[in-house]
Amino acid sequence: MKMQELLKTALNWRYAVKKFDPQKKISAGDWALLKESLRLTPSSYGLQPWKFIVVENPELRKQLREVSWNQSQVTDCSHYVVMSFKEKLDVEFIRKNMDKIAQVRGIPVETLEGFEKAIVSDLVNGPRSLGIEAWAQRQVYIAMGFLLETAALLEVDSTPMEGLDPAAYDTLLNLKGSGWKTVAAVALGYRHPEDPFLKNTKVRFDENEIFELR
Ligand SMILES: Cc1cc2nc3c(=O)[nH]c(=O)nc-3n(C[C@H](O)[C@H](O)[C@H](O)COP(=O)(O)O)c2cc1C
Repeated sequence: MKMQELLKTALNWRYAVKKFDPQKKISAGDWALLKESLRLTPSSYGLQPWKFIVVENPELRKQLREVSWNQSQVTDCSHYVVMSFKEKLDVEFIRKNMDKIAQVRGIPVETLEGFEKAIVSDLVNGPRSLGIEAWAQRQVYIAMGFLLETAALLEVDSTPMEGLDPAAYDTLLNLKGSGWKTVAAVALGYRHPEDPFLKNTKVRFDENEIFELR
């Protein structure tokens, strides 16, 4: 299939799964690619203010389900990824990023001083620092989009999930005081043939309702 056809098919094939087949597991190869889609997600200044917590423990999944409107996807999917963001953007985290750039590109970290200062004056000391949690969460949602689309292209099913209690997740996952906070989750796996949402027609606004030419 041509890439254009593939993409169109995948975008229409994907839907937010309500009922997963608990027997079907994602292969190691596909899982590696899904993780790579998260790792390669772009972020503002390249800061990557995220941590993806993969919950394998069935008992923990059960507890998380209880604080996720009892949604069955939490326990029945193959891989459950909790998306967390850095709650406070400090100079240490920005320095860590600069060190990484210097190391990967083989350049002295001093050459990044101007870039580092610009980031600090914008996100740590500037007006944008007041909404830094929302800023970090926005970066995480880009990762969510990358993950969902990559999954669809691999014919792996998914559910983006906001129907959960982030504070309760932070408690159950021991995130309190770690600097990371839950914002959402993504369940990944394979649709159950009896998923009542399987045959739903997609509901989207028409092109002329959402695009404007200026
Ligand atoms: C950020 C986000 C959070 C969502 N949270 C949930 C959720 O908690 N449970 C659920 O079943 N679906 C959830 N959905 C799925 C949406 O309801 C669904 O994507 C939307 O109705 C469009 O349908 P489609 O994805 O099947 O095309 C969420 C979607 C997004 C993008």
